[in-house]
Amino acid sequence: MAAATAENGARHILEIAEGFMKSQVLFTGMKLGIFDLLGTSSAPMTTMGIAEGIGADTDATKRLLDACVGLRLLQKVNMDKETGNGEYQLTKASKAFLTSSSSPNLGDWLGRLAAVYSSPWADLPRAVKEGPNFCTLNGFERGKTFEDLYSTAQYFMGSMEGLTTVFGAGTASAFNLAEFQNICDIGGCTGPLAYHLAAAYPEASVSVFDLPEVVKIAEDRRPTGEYAQRVSFISGDFFQDPLPPADLYVVCRILHDWTEDKVLTLLTKLYDSLPQGGGVLIVEHILTNDKLGPEVAHKYDLHMMVCTGGRQRSGQEFKRLLSSVGFTEVTVKNNTYPFGYVLARKQRV
Ligand SMILES: C[S@@+](CC[C@H](N)C(=O)[O-])C[C@H]1O[C@@H](n2cnc3c(N)ncnc32)[C@H](O)[C@@H]1O
Repeated sequence: MAAATAENGARHILEIAEGFMKSQVLFTGMKLGIFDLLGTSSAPMTTMGIAEGIGADTDATKRLLDACVGLRLLQKVNMDKETGNGEYQLTKASKAFLTSSSSPNLGDWLGRLAAVYSSPWADLPRAVKEGPNFCTLNGFERGKTFEDLYSTAQYFMGSMEGLTTVFGAGTASAFNLAEFQNICDIGGCTGPLAYHLAAAYPEASVSVFDLPEVVKIAEDRRPTGEYAQRVSFISGDFFQDPLPPADLYVVCRILHDWTEDKVLTLLTKLYDSLPQGGGVLIVEHILTNDKLGPEVAHKYDLHMMVCTGGRQRSGQEFKRLLSSVGFTEVTVKNNTYPFGYVLARKQRV
């Protein structure tokens, strides 16, 4: 191997191995309240000001702040070129997503990645060796995903809201859904995607169907705005109870939680509850048919392995599952980040 090629190969491997260091810079900045502090400051702040504000060592704070600048999580301004001393401020993206008052806020999700999910991920070798029998991993019990994973309802819901709020407008416009009159987001949490659907399709009636524990807190989290008032919440269990009538069911990050038998049960139920010509929109991190990517789908495939016993699926796998319960006209769109989309129909008359 030529020297340059060998070095590139080594660099590639090292950059993967050191990936956790990058995430620790972000998580530490959040944990110590650096983004919040800068978010409330009317002007860029010095190292000393920030170190005092978060009650930390000045030199160590400066090193962390500079690492944040290197990762484009902060900007350094008014800099003395000789000493490198300067003042720090939020970037556009950290202002938009990383402070407690950012709306939408990714903090709950990132906090959950940092605090909760690092432990199941440490069990990845065992999950791979033994199969994802996660009742023996992490104390999680198969078939009790809600109780085990979502039980801290408010915290979990906050963490779910981040991604769907940020990327929900893209989801709502992935296909033209204007022909559907009655859209129901199954397992739609506190409604982040439903609010985007209501805004994008003013003629449609939009509802969310989720467990009673979730619906109970949804009202307190309803945004202002006319479109938001048009979203209704219905409580129930999608495995046990009848589904609300609709001509389009949306299942966003639902099927990846479950094993194939449960997915087939749910898809059959969706199919049976739809009128002729009705549709189902699946939103997931969809794998390519050769399973070689995208990276986000690989990450969340393994995440499902260690956390829920579920998996990410390819467009082809969704086509097979959907046709096996009777759906036709299955269209897959998966060159989008972070979600891909599948729209399927119950045969029109
Ligand atoms: C992974 S979250 C996805 C939330 C939302 N669709 C999103 O993408 O932001 C799974 C959702 O399914 C809901 N859920 C889980 N089991 C359920 C059940 N048996 N019946 C109804 N909802 C359920 C959870 O409460 C949670 O809101």
